[in-house]
Amino acid sequence: MMGGTRGRMGRVLAAIAGAWLLGICAAQADDDLAAAQKQFVTSCGTCHVVDPKAGPRQGPNLAGLIGRKAGTYPGYKYSAALANAGFTWDADNLDKWITNAQAFKPGTTMPYRQADPAKRARIIAYLKSLSVEK
Ligand code: HEC
Repeated sequence: MMGGTRGRMGRVLAAIAGAWLLGICAAQADDDLAAAQKQFVTSCGTCHVVDPKAGPRQGPNLAGLIGRKAGTYPGYKYSAALANAGFTWDADNLDKWITNAQAFKPGTTMPYRQADPAKRARIIAYLKSLSVEK
């Protein structure tokens, strides 16, 4: 009987703690996304935009990148390496690409490499967040 009471009490406390944690997680997620966006602008923003209405810079527009076929953004003149790549962007190949673009796709004109996995993860999280919202 005592056990039952403690069990209920435990569940109530767990529910309260859970609700409190969810609040923290939501705030944390906002911070993470802000950090991710900042990382993207710092690392990629010189050459890339993500606003579909903006024209390309040195590199193609990255709006809706995850799930997009490589080398196909309208109006951008890709290298043959990327135009003929034939794969679709996902978190995995994007990670390899920004680790060292020219090693991943020899012949590409993107001169970028990022050795820090934490920075790459933030950039990928940001691009992913853009592809799920509409
Ligand atoms: C110095 C300029 C420059 C920087 C910095 C740069 N890129 Fe690029 N990016 C390019 C160019 C140029 C291309 C086109 C490559 C080609 O056609 O071979 C490109 C292509 C791409 C593509 C292929 C898009 C498609 O439509 O298939 C992706 C993805 C990409 N870049 C992501 C990134 C990310 C993420 C970063 C930051 C971590 C980054 N780039 C940093 C210049 C840059």
